[in-house]
Amino acid sequence: MDSIRVVGNGPLNGRIPVAGAKNACLALMPAALLTEDPLVLTNAPRLSDIETMTLLLESLGAQVSVADQSRTLTLCAQDITNTKAHYDIVRKMRASVLVLGPLLARTGTARVSLPGGCAIGARPVNLHLQGLEALGARLELRNGYIDARAPNGLRGSRINFPLVSVGATENLMLAAVLAQGTTVLENAALEPEIVDLADCLRAMGARIAGDGSAVIEIEGVDRLRGTRHQVIADRIEMGTYMMAPAIAGGDVELIGGRRDLVESLCDKLEATGVVVETTDDGLRVSRVNSRIRSVNVVTEPFPGFPTDLQAQMMALMTTADDRSVLTETIFENRFMHAQELLRMGADIRVQGGTATVTGVDHLKGAPVMATDIRASVSLILAGLAARGETIISRVYHLDRGYERLEEKLSACGAIIERLNG
Ligand code: UD1
Repeated sequence: MDSIRVVGNGPLNGRIPVAGAKNACLALMPAALLTEDPLVLTNAPRLSDIETMTLLLESLGAQVSVADQSRTLTLCAQDITNTKAHYDIVRKMRASVLVLGPLLARTGTARVSLPGGCAIGARPVNLHLQGLEALGARLELRNGYIDARAPNGLRGSRINFPLVSVGATENLMLAAVLAQGTTVLENAALEPEIVDLADCLRAMGARIAGDGSAVIEIEGVDRLRGTRHQVIADRIEMGTYMMAPAIAGGDVELIGGRRDLVESLCDKLEATGVVVETTDDGLRVSRVNSRIRSVNVVTEPFPGFPTDLQAQMMALMTTADDRSVLTETIFENRFMHAQELLRMGADIRVQGGTATVTGVDHLKGAPVMATDIRASVSLILAGLAARGETIISRVYHLDRGYERLEEKLSACGAIIERLNG
């Protein structure tokens, strides 16, 4: 299994291009199941999760071709030859469950394995299932599979989500666009990836309004057509690299960066003393003072502070000037990185959903283990600021969410390499 070696090497200076958003792309790709025509997605990120979704769609009969160094995906589901999403694929990635809505809407039947994915809490799919039932689907759980049927098609309905779920909002959008009548999603997720999906579906002929607000209204249509759509920038990748100069010092410009996608992070970084500026090409982040100030963070649905940046923020707080409290409200078991940061000399106390981090003078390199996508990158960030060598094992987690990470950071002066083994 590959590992990554990082040696703390002082400030980072340079430019980092922001990739297309993994989470947006994973919701856009299943939209191809809704039409016989080709759906072309540009600015796709080159990640193993995208390959997993490609394999899943191919297993359902879609044809997927890649061009432009895998940045452009052409997906064509002219014939859906299979409606079963197999456990072997779904277990690798939770987002696989997003084929359920479109499969049901297009064919009236779907059999999707219950997902696995990152080990960050229970992560049920009950909201996806309840929503689809409200649209008239009949569901049964059998042998680890969700058996779904809608022999007479789906019917629009009013669905009030008891809690905000990005995935359930997406699955319901992907189903409701071909349902008969109007669907209203209340307490819908506001994430930019939802708006990106709505933009793409609209270009395919769907009638959607209110995306980006808590109430989304979808009027079902009989058929959708293909389109060409550019995947939105990855705000989590962007935010992660914004924290690199914050923790190691230096001055980094994120090409394609957009403040509106990471406003909550910008506010926190500015409160630590880091400077964030909008430039012609994106966002520039620089750390001018020698030590950053501690800040408290509470994770929340968008536009609040993203749970997917909590681990990276914890790494940053390990060398801040005082004490900070990080509160995780989205996933109950998302502090696995704390144990690994302790191995690097951090002072962190975890109690339930809060972690209290007391800044230390410096971190020390150590062998550490990645446990999920964002935990692994927090260890890379810590390694960039630590004295000595950090070896991060189980980097397949990293490859799910960060393309060419070593290349992007080395270009800014980091000492980072992949060790094959
Ligand atoms: C998506 C993102 C993930 C991010 C998360 C929260 C993708 C592929 N992944 O995951 O990176 O961390 O949003 O921003 O886009 N829940 C239920 N029942 C459900 C669904 C969710 O109880 O049916 C709970 C979850 O356990 C969690 C909360 O709702 O506590 C939010 O989860 P959700 O927004 O659905 O996350 P994902 O869509 O899985």
